[in-house]
Amino acid sequence: MFDMRIFVLVGIVLCLASAAQAAQGNAVFYKPPYTPSACYGNRNDGTMVTGVSDALWNNGRACGRRYRVRCIRGTNEAPHPCRSGNVVVKVVDRCKTGCNGVLNLSQDAFAKIANPDAGNVIVDYTPV
Ligand SMILES: *[C@@H]1O[C@H](CO)[C@@H](O)[C@H](O)[C@H]1NC(C)=O
Repeated sequence: MFDMRIFVLVGIVLCLASAAQAAQGNAVFYKPPYTPSACYGNRNDGTMVTGVSDALWNNGRACGRRYRVRCIRGTNEAPHPCRSGNVVVKVVDRCKTGCNGVLNLSQDAFAKIANPDAGNVIVDYTPV
């Protein structure tokens, strides 16, 4: 027999868990070629990739993690750069100290969620 209470409880827990993990930060981008990368050297991991700053890098343990990224708003220089939808990217690189963003997206990934002319946008990102 299907127990509705369990279903609701699981739903609530999943909801809280995902909300707790969502975070906001700046995203910048870099242009191809996306290799070599700090994680995988010359291995080609496609175009939906990102570098992460030290906040997420975690001594390289960030390599291979995937984040769903959504544009929230622009920075002052470009007021309305966001495109609708989101993109899932894989961590392949480290954005070294002095990085302008939490995420340093590939240009391909950035262009899916924002106008690249903006250069730098506020995103929210959730591990997937
Ligand atoms: C983004 O990553 C590329 C490749 O690692 C790097 O050359 C570039 O400096 C990074 N961008 C920023 C803003 O740090």
